[in-house]
Amino acid sequence: MAITSNERIRLADRTGVGLRLPHLAEVVATRPPVGWLEIHPENFLANPHGLELLIDLVRDYPISVHTVGISIGSADGIDRAHLRRVRALVDRLNPVLVSGHLAWSMHGGTYLNDLLPLPYTEETLRTVATHLAEVQDGLGRAYLIENPSTYVSIATSTMTEIEFLHALVDVTGCRLLCDVSNVYLSGHNMGYDPYEFIDRFPAGAVAELHLGGFTAEEDEATPGGTLLVDTHAHAVAAPSWDLYAHAVRRFGSQPTIIEWDDELPGLAILAGEAYKADGVRERAKEVRHADPC
Ligand SMILES: [Fe+2]
Repeated sequence: MAITSNERIRLADRTGVGLRLPHLAEVVATRPPVGWLEIHPENFLANPHGLELLIDLVRDYPISVHTVGISIGSADGIDRAHLRRVRALVDRLNPVLVSGHLAWSMHGGTYLNDLLPLPYTEETLRTVATHLAEVQDGLGRAYLIENPSTYVSIATSTMTEIEFLHALVDVTGCRLLCDVSNVYLSGHNMGYDPYEFIDRFPAGAVAELHLGGFTAEEDEATPGGTLLVDTHAHAVAAPSWDLYAHAVRRFGSQPTIIEWDDELPGLAILAGEAYKADGVRERAKEVRHADPC
């Protein structure tokens, strides 16, 4: 089911937050004034009490579903049993958006606890396009693809990430989730300009934005000696806010989620990040409107 234009305007006007299990009971009890909630379905598939609480929230919040267990880039195919379980949850929640990562995390039926990088080749493009069609058919709705956080380049790649994203949109007509913090940290780690990456991103396909905190780790192999790791364990960093403003000027106002997964703060701090995103977005929209270009 497609998101309606009214829902889209509502989502784009007020930032949402990733809802993690430690916050679930408090969110149910206090109904914090954030725009919407994004969940990982894998947290609720074997969690009937959690699901009961989540269903209660559907009355008051738009919900989006962000999968971490659908390994769209796996060479050995999609786990159809997992896909059916996610479909059953999606049917109960009727989410406004469903998304997952341009990555792989399963091999030989074993789930690896990571989102692993893909070589950007024609073969990978065919694999991802085939799996994306299977996932969208299996879920009965559109499935947004998120750009990864990148730490290494794969020697066999014949395309850059941005070229691959354009090719994927051209071949499948899919829509994209642009994780702005991933763009910033990948640009730092791989030595490219994140602003240019946003400028070249397939803007017409963007349907959602993410922001999350990263962790700087010492790494001799990275220029400057610091690797940025997508831990979602901190507040959004200043350079990511600046890049978010640039993304809003480029893509217009888009539904935005704050992701925070580890070392979770109090709910008020998480909600504060969402309000901050609202402020940055409003100011960026004003600049966009004032700029005839
Ligand atoms: Fe993300």
